[in-house]
Amino acid sequence: MRLSRYFLPVLKENPSEAQIVSHRLMLRAGMIKQASAGIYAWLPLGFKVLRKLENIVHEEQVRAGHIPMLMPTLQSADLWRESGRYDGYGEEMLRMQDRHGRDMLYSPTAEEMFTDVFRANVNSYKDLPLTLYQIQWKFRDEIRPRFGVMRGREFLMKDGYNFDLSKEDALHAYNRHLVSYLRTYERMGLQAIPMRADSGPIGGDYTHEFLVLADTGESEVFYDSEITDLTFGDRDIDFDSVEQCQAVLEEFTSRYARTDETHDEALFAEVPEDRRRTARGIEVGQIFYFGTQYSDAMGAAVQGPDGKPVSIHMGSHGIGVSRLLGAIIEASHDENGIIWPEGVTPFHVGIVNLKQGDEEADSACEALYDSFTAAGLDPLYDDRKERAGGKFATMDLIGLPWRITVGPRGLKNGVVELTSRRTGESEELPPEQAVEKIIQIYAKHRVTGL
Ligand SMILES: Nc1ncnc2c1ncn2[C@@H]1O[C@H](COP(=O)(O)OP(=O)(O)OP(=O)(O)O)[C@@H](O)[C@H]1O
Ligand SMILES: [Mg+2]
Repeated sequence: MRLSRYFLPVLKENPSEAQIVSHRLMLRAGMIKQASAGIYAWLPLGFKVLRKLENIVHEEQVRAGHIPMLMPTLQSADLWRESGRYDGYGEEMLRMQDRHGRDMLYSPTAEEMFTDVFRANVNSYKDLPLTLYQIQWKFRDEIRPRFGVMRGREFLMKDGYNFDLSKEDALHAYNRHLVSYLRTYERMGLQAIPMRADSGPIGGDYTHEFLVLADTGESEVFYDSEITDLTFGDRDIDFDSVEQCQAVLEEFTSRYARTDETHDEALFAEVPEDRRRTARGIEVGQIFYFGTQYSDAMGAAVQGPDGKPVSIHMGSHGIGVSRLLGAIIEASHDENGIIWPEGVTPFHVGIVNLKQGDEEADSACEALYDSFTAAGLDPLYDDRKERAGGKFATMDLIGLPWRITVGPRGLKNGVVELTSRRTGESEELPPEQAVEKIIQIYAKHRVTGL
């Protein structure tokens, strides 16, 4: 993309309505525009990162054996009456009527819809296990939407639902989700810690929230500092292996890590004092096993091996895709702007032409642009007739991890300058070497999606 042809409405001033840095930077970098409270237009740069996150989520879900599909956002109230949640859900549910006076709602989550599709199509134990998921917009009429996309009313969520014959199988699905979520967040450059969460009226131990530590997080968290040393890395997991998935669950959840909702002072006191941490966190996902609650209420059973009907054990598993943008920026920025992790950056590299209109500089930039494109990378070329200072400020604000600066003086010596956004360090090297280096950096950050 050439910046002169792009739509990147950056703001010079700090928008006064933004209370936290990620919201401020998303507005300033021209990623989003508020349409009404908690509802946003996704401008091209924001949309690009959102799509990247979606693609990573898809890749990791499919890797775990889960099947993507798409449900409607507008759903019939009758379906929700069957589960009892139409009356139970409360003010967060946006309700409406169509022209025939039929009650409808904008889906805040989709257990009912998925259970309905399941019961209409699956009759035999032979079709299990099955995990279906979608990445779809949700609406919750939050009483206090704030912090930009962090707590929106309309937001993008990955929600997945497992259908299993037994509690044992459903717990394997639970573990599979935990493993795939660890991979997903790490690919996004985030550490998200699974913490024991509150399972509400259903009870049981089977729910974890994933939290990114950040001062601006809305949850208070308590944990054993050893947990922050754990990384998933690029281990090769067989998602069908009960033992392997269980081992990862144990590794990542055996230390104390809880939100204020489940915090237990007596248990926390057993953690050695120098490892006890209290902090704040952003919830970027949650996994949940809830048994046969929905399948019983909605009559979703299959014929078991002995011909008798078996209630389906279910769980649901969510990732806050649009909230993740805010969480990533909270975790990765400086006073000049965003610093995208390589895995999610909207463009792989920025090309800054110090002397637009200079024949040599222009053609060196074009050559770099072509090399990156030919290698399947996505460069952003600042080809505007602007001062260098302004170009640098824009690149810093929008946070591309790598910048190549091209000017007549360097070209005379056969070099361009390669700068890391994160460290600020620069090196001079021949253009071909700069290209080679960028290609290598991104070799393990390829995102293709579905
Ligand atoms: N209003 C919102 N805006 C943006 N993302 C959200 C919002 N509500 C939930 N999410 C994201 O969707 C994920 C799955 O939804 P879930 O039903 O677990 O949310 P939740 O527990 O009600 O969230 P919260 O406690 O933050 O209100 C959450 O982990 C979160 O990342
Ligand atoms: Mg939650």
